[in-house]
Amino acid sequence: MRVGVLTGGGDCPGLNAVIRAVVRKGVARYKQDFIGFRDGWRGPLEGDGFALDVKSVRGILPRGGTILGSSRTNPLKVEGGVDQIEENLRNFKVDALVAIGGEDTLGVATALHERGVPIVGVPKTIDNDLNATDYTFGFDTAINIAMEAIDRLHTTAESHRRVLIVELMGRHAGWIALHAGLAGGANVILIPEQRFDIEKVCGYIESRFKTNYSPIIVAAEGAIPEGGDMMLKDASRDAFGHVKLSGIGDWLAREVEKRTGKEARCIVLGHIQRGGTPTAFDRVLATRFGLHAIDAVQEGDWGKMVALRGTDIVRVPLADATRELKTVDPSRYAEAEVFFG
Ligand code: F6P
Repeated sequence: MRVGVLTGGGDCPGLNAVIRAVVRKGVARYKQDFIGFRDGWRGPLEGDGFALDVKSVRGILPRGGTILGSSRTNPLKVEGGVDQIEENLRNFKVDALVAIGGEDTLGVATALHERGVPIVGVPKTIDNDLNATDYTFGFDTAINIAMEAIDRLHTTAESHRRVLIVELMGRHAGWIALHAGLAGGANVILIPEQRFDIEKVCGYIESRFKTNYSPIIVAAEGAIPEGGDMMLKDASRDAFGHVKLSGIGDWLAREVEKRTGKEARCIVLGHIQRGGTPTAFDRVLATRFGLHAIDAVQEGDWGKMVALRGTDIVRVPLADATRELKTVDPSRYAEAEVFFG
């Protein structure tokens, strides 16, 4: 059997560990061979692929990013895009595809599966917002990077008696902010799922200063003030219709200074959260996902995504994972609120 592999959407630590596991097990156990498609769905769409063998996946386990490249190409938005993909898969003599991606990449995988393309999905995203899996790989690395940044900011904030606002990624889900904020001892955590009252945030800031410590506010990039809107970097949208979020941290810094008279600075952590080497948790999860995905391919169990349930790796219908986003439940936010102020 010849298997095509691609990584789509925003890159994240652990992608290479999946590729390595898929290829290593596929070659050793099942005598399969592999085609790596470049830059997500652009590869199969434009017929841009290359032979992927055991030698080409040596040494990539600890490397961030993806050796296959990634993009946000959406073949469903290209006229005749799906036919083109089917034709290129035939040209490469590819019998099955392993698509590693988040909501968008796996949404395309779901549509292709419905067209009869033999496909298995692997969930990735630092945002951890994919349904049907307890965790995606990449998330643990992102929250550890963010936690370390928050730890470092505490000491400098206290030295200058400043308010420091840390803007974190996560798009429309607050998982990164919630976990990093909780782990880093943030004094307020703001997430997209719960609109916030700026007066209340300022109240937490004042009470933190009274204890002789300086406040750290963690804001998810998608956090929204009551009566306001989500802050956008610019007006552009990607091929999946997503806006670029950012700006809430700067907005908060301005509002906090105006309302409390305290100096407030904003730190946007940005792509640092996505770069570099994966944590042990993400390497293991990504490796197990890869091992189980190639089993599903060998068994011809198409239209499935591998998922983490507790400590088990299971298979779920691709459509279940992409139907709606997994967002933070109010009860999880209430846990964190105990530490505000
Ligand atoms: O989905 C992962 C993610 O890093 C989001 O947290 C963020 O909003 C988005 O991608 C940024 O995308 P890009 O790197 O394309 O600007």
